[in-house]
Amino acid sequence: MSKTLITSALPYINGVPHLGHMVGCLLPSDVYARYMRMMGNDVLYIVGTDEHGTTSEVGALKAGMDIQSYCDMNHERHYNTYKDFGLSFDYFGRTSSEQNKEMTYHIFEQLDKNGYIEERTVKQIYSIDDQMFLADRYITGTCPHCGYEKARGDQCENCTQVLEPTDLINAKSTISGSSNLEVRETKHLFLNLPKIEPLLRQWLITKEPFWPEVAYSIAQKWLKEGLQARCITRDLKWGFPVNKPGFEDKVFYVWFDAPIGYIGITKQWADENPKNRNWKDWWYDATNVRHVEFMGKDNVPYHSITFPATLLGTGENWTQVDYLKGVSYLTFEGGKFSKSENRGIFAEDAIKEFPADYWRYWLMSNIPEASDTSFTFDLFASIINKDLNGVLGNFVSRVLKMTSSKIGNEVPSGGNLGALEEKLITTLQARVNDYFKYMNELEFRKAFAELRQIWVEGNNYISEAEPWVVIKEDVEKASQILRTCINLIRIFAILSAPVMPTTSEKMLQKLGLTLSDIPSIKDFNIAQEITAIKAGTPFEVGDMLFERIPEERIAELKEKYGASK
Ligand code: 2FM
Ligand code: ZN
Repeated sequence: MSKTLITSALPYINGVPHLGHMVGCLLPSDVYARYMRMMGNDVLYIVGTDEHGTTSEVGALKAGMDIQSYCDMNHERHYNTYKDFGLSFDYFGRTSSEQNKEMTYHIFEQLDKNGYIEERTVKQIYSIDDQMFLADRYITGTCPHCGYEKARGDQCENCTQVLEPTDLINAKSTISGSSNLEVRETKHLFLNLPKIEPLLRQWLITKEPFWPEVAYSIAQKWLKEGLQARCITRDLKWGFPVNKPGFEDKVFYVWFDAPIGYIGITKQWADENPKNRNWKDWWYDATNVRHVEFMGKDNVPYHSITFPATLLGTGENWTQVDYLKGVSYLTFEGGKFSKSENRGIFAEDAIKEFPADYWRYWLMSNIPEASDTSFTFDLFASIINKDLNGVLGNFVSRVLKMTSSKIGNEVPSGGNLGALEEKLITTLQARVNDYFKYMNELEFRKAFAELRQIWVEGNNYISEAEPWVVIKEDVEKASQILRTCINLIRIFAILSAPVMPTTSEKMLQKLGLTLSDIPSIKDFNIAQEITAIKAGTPFEVGDMLFERIPEERIAELKEKYGASK
């Protein structure tokens, strides 16, 4: 069995995930993991929280909590949100774990031993009142170019000039508001990327043309512009203390230990069940592993350049990324999601408004693959009403209600498949093949457009076969048509499971089945699947699968989530 290692970018612990985060990495990684499992692969799907860095320290400070309790609380909150969204990760870990510390130390030691770490002295702004060095974005002041008073230490958002914090007039700490700042010299460790570059180039060539264009071109652009050594340490308290004499009072930079977190979290998973799990089978001298990473496009440079270079520099045989799915941005009604401005729908609220599958389907069939996409409540409601309620939901309820009222609550017997069914089998098989092809290629928009077409074929079939007319003359034939339709419900449930797992279970439940009864879909053969449910099997009509979203509800939602702000 081939092994598929799936990782999603690890969300920042202090962030509150919105729909853009969900569709940027978490949801597609889950959909792909579910699909690969159903295809019969050995899947390990790893997610967790990215916990270090200044933003976490500041988050804890604002919440009036000590940082450990703050991270514990938020880790739990992230976990619950993702569970509510139906994410099926094998383990949801933390970059601050002991296991990740061990991995980070080991990787750093190897890089140092191989001569890829260098010391440099840099000048940085120190806030005397905050008793800390300030990251550029925590310093504001007046822009020397345009006079804008809230320019940040790295860039003026008014005139877009790139700045050094020392350029600012009347610079202040955004943490305490204090202007009691001074420039101090401090020693840091740098990862010498230019020295690793030859190894990286060699490695990157092996990826072409297997990487999607968006990831490959970002990596190439970075290489073309020339790699710079990157500082991997920080003067902070929260983080892994650097394991090198003379640097014990510094911690590793959050972006150094975060991607190592994929490995550290795998070790957390393995440590919980040491008898039959081994993290090395997936990461170290591992054979037959395909590693697929999901992330927003802003993360691509770290995962296509910095992290692979980090692993290459160790001189050890670490599993590298094989396929990197970079996703563009989702906007909210054409603008930005903003918690502080109460604008946009965040994952925790989303789930209180509608079941997870509504969001999962909408997001995956509108995933911003080629370019940024806007979420709007109008579009959301129109797709739920048309595709889910209209096409899929209606088919299921129509078939079961009709069978129940005309024949009874058992799958009807009699009749043989004819020319119309032959046509149905051929059309569906072609569509299923395309659906799987797009899923294999991680072309999700195309995949879910195809899935919708598969449901449409069910409606086309019943309209053409007209069992309600046929039954007047030929009960046997009508029984066969309805039996075929009930089998279509099972087929639709199986094929929809990666994107709408709860709905799939509901559909199967009506037929007395569960997803765990479904064998691998690797050689999914419609000619066989179309008769899988035999005559005499009991079924229940049950509730409608989806509810229509009425106009008034759309207006309410727009108001509640600041759609017109
Ligand atoms: O951009 C982000 O949300 C980062 N926390 C992603 C880190 S991905 C991995 F490296 F951990
Ligand atoms: Zn300016």
